Amino acid sequence: MTPATVAPLLSVSDLRKSYGAIRAVDGVSFEVMPGEIFGVIGPNGSGKTTMFNSVLGQIRPNSGTVALQGRDITGLSPLALNHRGVGRTFQTLQVFGKMSVRDNLLVAAQEHKGSAWGRLFSPGDSGLGAKADALIEKFRLGHVAHQRAGELSYGQQKLVDIAMAFMSEPVLVLLDEPCAGVNPSLVGGISSLLKELNREHQGSFIVIEHNMDFVMDLCHRILVMVEGRVLAVGTPTEIRRNKAVLDAYLGN
Ligand SMILES: Nc1ncnc2c1ncn2[C@@H]1O[C@H](COP(=O)(O)OP(=O)(O)OP(=O)(O)O)[C@@H](O)[C@H]1O
Ligand SMILES: [Mg+2]
Repeated sequence: MTPATVAPLLSVSDLRKSYGAIRAVDGVSFEVMPGEIFGVIGPNGSGKTTMFNSVLGQIRPNSGTVALQGRDITGLSPLALNHRGVGRTFQTLQVFGKMSVRDNLLVAAQEHKGSAWGRLFSPGDSGLGAKADALIEKFRLGHVAHQRAGELSYGQQKLVDIAMAFMSEPVLVLLDEPCAGVNPSLVGGISSLLKELNREHQGSFIVIEHNMDFVMDLCHRILVMVEGRVLAVGTPTEIRRNKAVLDAYLGN
């Protein structure tokens, strides 16, 4: 597998999004390769989430293109992207607090299939129940599977949130701060889970995180955003040694 023969999974080209005078995303280009775990770091307000939302159809970019497996997906709705195998987690929790952990996963999958809520409780669940149970097991949520998600600890809810993104067997998952607010003892567990899911399914992930140890350990390559622009892209080792990154962000 030489780089020249492998086509990128995701190509983002000259993406721009402004809010009035604020250039939140100011000409961002990058590629994510199949099977790659791609980190996005940068100071607060540097445009990471806006870039995510522009890629994911949550907001419409002012200009630029996004292509998945060579096909233009710019401006497609989150649901349309979900059908093409793109999943996400949000910076803030998106679990349904009054539903059980297992039902949260089932609803996430139903959303992907675009079918009615009623099917959730129909006898033939097209293997979704088994898939939910497998993820519950993998995320070590078995003991709380039938508990309301809202009753769980914040860290456990975060795990449910992440598991939900994997119900649709996505080719690409975008995770916005999977470790935010999570007890440090759980951070290593989240990292191991993501590595395992990446190994097993060969899916690609884009991960925004402020936890530098987590990003450096997990990601194959890292993009550094500052003031809406790409300051650098490289391996963790390259990023750690990059003078511009050290000056502008890592602060050494
Ligand atoms: N809906 C909006 N309306 C106006 N300004 C916005 C909006 N969303 C984001 N911004 C601005 O765009 C810039 C980038 O914000 P964004 O949330 O993308 O940063 P971020 O890198 O994700 O930050 P953080 O690390 O704090 O999550 C900030 O200046 C922010 O205030
Ligand atoms: Mg953000």
